[in-house]
Amino acid sequence: MNTHLKLIEEHLSSLVQEQPKVLHHLLFESARYSLLSPGKRLRPLLVLATAQTFHADIKQALSPACAVEMIHTYSLIHDDLPSMDNDDLRRGKPTLHKVYPEGHALLTGDFLLTYAFEVLAESPGLSSDQKLSLILTLSKAAGSEGMIGGQSVDLASVGKTIDWETLRFMHLGKTAALIAASFECGAIIGNASEQDRKTIQKAGLDLGLAFQITDDILDVTSSTAMLGKSIGADQDRKKPTAVSLLGLRKAETIGEELLFRARQNLTTLSVPAPLLVELADQLVHRKK
Ligand code: IPE
Ligand code: IPE
Ligand code: MG
Ligand code: MG
Ligand code: MG
Repeated sequence: MNTHLKLIEEHLSSLVQEQPKVLHHLLFESARYSLLSPGKRLRPLLVLATAQTFHADIKQALSPACAVEMIHTYSLIHDDLPSMDNDDLRRGKPTLHKVYPEGHALLTGDFLLTYAFEVLAESPGLSSDQKLSLILTLSKAAGSEGMIGGQSVDLASVGKTIDWETLRFMHLGKTAALIAASFECGAIIGNASEQDRKTIQKAGLDLGLAFQITDDILDVTSSTAMLGKSIGADQDRKKPTAVSLLGLRKAETIGEELLFRARQNLTTLSVPAPLLVELADQLVHRKK
């Protein structure tokens, strides 16, 4: 995992280089501020680990893995804006709109989202069919049926009591879609069978849902120092979460059930997937 992490960090940095001599140098500076800040890199790790599970060359997975991290980072920049969650701290540092003008933070998110698809289209070592599948998978996961759909329900739910079905839809969209897509991208790069892709998507959605439940739990049980973002923010902003709806215990139980089912599904793949099972545990049992 540490080797993979190092590859990811180096590649992210090489994809967005400083350009001090151009008129729009601020854009590259701010993109690096957010993209290279110390995130856990779970999504790119999932892409690499899944590709490796299906015996692909890790090098072919590196650009798609970084594209996923760019989409994720853009979603965090926009999620933190005053018009959304209005947060001041991210990855242990002031949020981007606290360092640069708000409009510039918005544009930095737009840049990372758009650039992610350029990076995907230019990923070395992949066939045109593979690249098209990657673009389709990630655009769906990031769009109205995925992250944006979930974030839209999230915004509309502030201050309201919502039922489990609505919360589930919101969490599946805003978080699970991109996590499931990370697994799927690895499967596409490894030329996995249709059956394996279906299995991995199912496990990915369960784990993504459990991931957001853990995020909701950590917001009340962890510390700002540990998380690198302000705790208690959900309650302060009157956000419905797994914890506010179900209570801590029940939220934890559902997370464990989802993890159990995902682990079971991962063992039915046509290839052994010990690395994915390990990452699955980490996604749900993480401390930050
Ligand atoms: C935070 O994601 C946003 C959610 C979808 C819950 P991560 O917990 O993966 O954040 P980083 O990338 O490590 O900062
Ligand atoms: C974030 O959910 C989901 C996306 C960024 C798409 P949260 O709003 O709960 O994430 P944090 O807690 O700010 O990281
Ligand atoms: Mg949010
Ligand atoms: Mg937030
Ligand atoms: Mg949260």
